Amino acid sequence: MGGGGGGSAISAPVFELPLNIPPVLQPISSTATQDIFELTQRNATVGIIPGTQTAILGYNGMTPGPTIRVDSDRETVVRHINNSNVRTTTHLHGGHMRAGDDGHPVDYVNPGATRAYTYSNKQLPATLWYHDHTMDLTGDQVYAGLAGFYLMSDDYERALGLPSGDQEVAIVIQDRTFAADGSLIYNDNIMGELGDTILVNGAPYPYFEVSTRKYRVRILNGSNARTYNLALSNGTTFTQIGSDGGLLPAPVSRTTMSIAPAERLDVIIDFSNASVGDQIVFLNTAGSGSTTQIMRFDVTRVEDDGSVVPQVLRPVERLDPAAAVQTRRWVFGMSGGSYPWVINGRPYDPERIDAMPRLGTTEIWELTNRTGMMHPVHIHDIMWQILDINGRPPAPQDAGWKDTFQVPPMGTVRVIGRFDDYVGDPNDVTTAYMMHCHILEHEDHAMMSQFVVVE
Ligand code: C2O
Ligand code: CU
Ligand code: CU
Repeated sequence: MGGGGGGSAISAPVFELPLNIPPVLQPISSTATQDIFELTQRNATVGIIPGTQTAILGYNGMTPGPTIRVDSDRETVVRHINNSNVRTTTHLHGGHMRAGDDGHPVDYVNPGATRAYTYSNKQLPATLWYHDHTMDLTGDQVYAGLAGFYLMSDDYERALGLPSGDQEVAIVIQDRTFAADGSLIYNDNIMGELGDTILVNGAPYPYFEVSTRKYRVRILNGSNARTYNLALSNGTTFTQIGSDGGLLPAPVSRTTMSIAPAERLDVIIDFSNASVGDQIVFLNTAGSGSTTQIMRFDVTRVEDDGSVVPQVLRPVERLDPAAAVQTRRWVFGMSGGSYPWVINGRPYDPERIDAMPRLGTTEIWELTNRTGMMHPVHIHDIMWQILDINGRPPAPQDAGWKDTFQVPPMGTVRVIGRFDDYVGDPNDVTTAYMMHCHILEHEDHAMMSQFVVVE
């Protein structure tokens, strides 16, 4: 066993390790309008499977990296020091930032170099995440550990009375494969790398002790390629309050939830009807064998709950298709050769600009999948609304602001967005924004495109 594509040579303990909550990063300095954060990208050795050590590449040497918490409209500078042995770029997924600070795949930060990315946070609060985005190596370097949360809030959201403090957790679900010595096995599988061990916040199948209250759980699928179908073992429903781009207009009750790579689900799980001693398993009904379970919620104490889930969350401004100045068509397909994955028949070329939408205009993008597998398509820069999926309007949980869309096999998703605030320079590709499949091995094997917003 071990090596090759044969799966882990070592099995992880199930429900034996506590849920890891990544530390919240403190700014190194602040002014009236801005907070400056610093992160060091470095190689490190950490304990993931008990009794073994795992070499990772992590922000501050940990995976996931520290959590950055910010408020809308307050500027953030994140200064990255690359003390690792590889070149990197860092993208803030879900962020609406100046074109040159998007972490373009060839805007390299070399080993030993420092790079500050400025984020205006001029956007609605949402569950964002920062991760590596290096040309051809995003899959390798995210798998090795380069990902962390960036959680945005504002006064409006805090005033809703949603579960907060220790009743609010962010969890990133990732699948990994381990060799007998605990090292990560990565094969850069061109179809999408699947691991057989489920990690939540960097630890295998953890348990999380809860009280008889409501919890806000922000869920990120940080896996390279695996899509999960989430459910709770006792049939408890989730109340979804948000998606990629922030709060939904109203809560949506769900028994199962599909989540593709890079998507986020913001949910309330209510344990108030549970009893002390209950153990509720968080399941992946799309998995098999070791990928059918994710973590466990252990109800360990009775506590009063002062939180609420209002029936009105945050109204979503509907974008009007009649306002769109044009419809762009993007076809996700396969071709022969060393770049099997293509968009509109072409592999990604960092020197080629594929679209130049105009600042302040609204466009419809039609995403068509000509393959037999689902592609989770992600568009940088702005948040979008889904108009329809195979001609049908989206379910309420998919009708809020989104940046990643599950485009079904042989299907079409139409999305609408408005290009606000930032323009790039068509003569400087590092000011382009990306659009790509978020199965990272598809992205690395060229299922990516780029656009520059122009005046
Ligand atoms: Cu989360 Cu272009 O990526
Ligand atoms: Cu992104
Ligand atoms: Cu894909």
